[in-house]
Amino acid sequence: MKILSTQVLLRNELEQLRAAGKTVGFVPTMGALHAGHCSLVKRCVAENDVCVVSVFVNPTQFNNAEDLAKYPRSLERDAALLEQQGVALVFAPTPEEMYSPEEMNHTFEFDFGGLDQVMEGKYRPGHFNGVVQVVSKLFRLVQPRKAYFGEKDYQQLAIIRRMVKVMDFNVEIVGCPIVREPSGLALSSRNERLSADEKQRAVHISQVLFESRNLAGKHTVQYVQNWVVEQINAVNGLQMEYYEIVDGTTLQPTSVWDNAVGCVTVYCGPVRLIDNIKYTTTQNQ
Ligand code: PAF
Repeated sequence: MKILSTQVLLRNELEQLRAAGKTVGFVPTMGALHAGHCSLVKRCVAENDVCVVSVFVNPTQFNNAEDLAKYPRSLERDAALLEQQGVALVFAPTPEEMYSPEEMNHTFEFDFGGLDQVMEGKYRPGHFNGVVQVVSKLFRLVQPRKAYFGEKDYQQLAIIRRMVKVMDFNVEIVGCPIVREPSGLALSSRNERLSADEKQRAVHISQVLFESRNLAGKHTVQYVQNWVVEQINAVNGLQMEYYEIVDGTTLQPTSVWDNAVGCVTVYCGPVRLIDNIKYTTTQNQ
């Protein structure tokens, strides 16, 4: 496995691999890798001749300087894990390698078709501009045949699919199911920042979501939405930012259960956690 920190080096490697007829799959990450990332990497290794993983904490998608500063960074540990998984190339650039000062300081413009007006987009203005900025740059660089994203970031996945369409990228986007701890807690790099006590409280998030699935169909969407908010806020130490049941494709609020997805963001102490659940029985996680 090679760890490359410049675009030129990565391009050269990829040119040689393509010249040898190899197919390239890609997993973009911000590092601090866990079993959720490994599930994407495993699939990428299995489905392509060469698996490229980027490890880059993208500053332009953070709208909170403290969150960016505190984001866990562990390249050595990540690289060891990726080598075990059979990854061929790791791309780990600096922010200066990825962006010119102009790019760093100006909001990247993209027509989200409304997908950025809800949920994460509403609470983290500019976040998805940064995501599209970095992923489009990485796609141009790596030119993968397939790219792998987790369904935990449900809205991100919908936006990446739109980006591929609008920008005409020739890449298949593969969405991979959420990986959970045995307790049900969705795996996240942010879980590292939870104390043992906070972690126990955080488990309630997925438990309430799973229970809410038993109510779906028997009650209205509005009823279940309110129920989830009440249940989570009743747990000491959890503070809901939003819970929205939306259409799984348009991400607009829905009043029907068909294709409905519930997306939640909760503060557990200082740590912001996200999770989601599909209500349509055929798509259940
Ligand atoms: O999901 C993430 O880790 C990031 O948003 C991504 C896709 C790697 C872009 O920085």
